[in-house]
Amino acid sequence: MPITAIWGPPNSGKTTLAIDLAYAISRRGKTVCLISPEPFSELSQIFSVKLIKPQGIEMAYHAPGSLKQAVFQIDSLLFILAAQYFTDAFGDSESLPEVKSLLSEASATFEHVIVDCPSTANNTMAAWAINQATSVLLLTGFCSTAAAWYQAFNRAIGAFPMKAIPICVQGSDSFDYRGLSSVLSNNNSGVKISPKVWVPFFPGAEAVQRQRRTLYDYSGKAGKAYTAAIDEICDEVQGGRA
Ligand SMILES: Nc1ncnc2c1ncn2[C@@H]1O[C@H](COP(=O)(O)OP(=O)(O)OP(=O)(O)O)[C@@H](O)[C@H]1O
Ligand SMILES: [Mg+2]
Repeated sequence: MPITAIWGPPNSGKTTLAIDLAYAISRRGKTVCLISPEPFSELSQIFSVKLIKPQGIEMAYHAPGSLKQAVFQIDSLLFILAAQYFTDAFGDSESLPEVKSLLSEASATFEHVIVDCPSTANNTMAAWAINQATSVLLLTGFCSTAAAWYQAFNRAIGAFPMKAIPICVQGSDSFDYRGLSSVLSNNNSGVKISPKVWVPFFPGAEAVQRQRRTLYDYSGKAGKAYTAAIDEICDEVQGGRA
């Protein structure tokens, strides 16, 4: 079953896109597992769910075959796998075999797996998810340090040119996205980072998210334009790209 990894510079809209894409795919009738390998409980905070033992990604890593008990069910088709509230980030860390077995269990159990990959280099689940993904949504970012991130990670990005889908989330109404895109399309990673889908700026996005609501399916002009862009991304990742 398809695995979509979402990756890009810090604060580029990865988690927002991961959540909205997961919702959109589940609205199309597919079971979706949204995995956050962050060592803190970001997703459960956003979805306002309290993961208690035996739920949570730590349990899924250390007890193979326990995925169905470890995921938190948001609705009939959408499941999340994330850290519990009181995870110790310096506790036992997961090994590569545990990561491999969890991702393959997730992809055998759910019709679509989405992994919200941290921007940093040292996350085993993110690295393996990017390696195994059918598509990698590569966010351009919306701040001037994005170009430096692409420079630092250009070898990693150059390893998956065929499955990269560059996306520009316009998370600010005062940023020169075209300028950044032109810098990124001239980098030396072998991947031309030229956005295939432009996700429009959503005014007041943070306030909507604070109410535990998705930007996807939100009312009004901004909601409609945003939803259309996410639907376009859905078509891309469900189109069987390999
Ligand atoms: N289309 C959009 N329009 C306006 N604001 C947006 C949009 N998408 C995301 N944002 C806002 O941008 C900020 C960063 O988004 P998000 O947390 O999803 O990024 P991230 O890449 O996951 O960050 P991190 O690197 O910290 O994990 C948030 O405040 C979010 O509300
Ligand atoms: Mg995030």
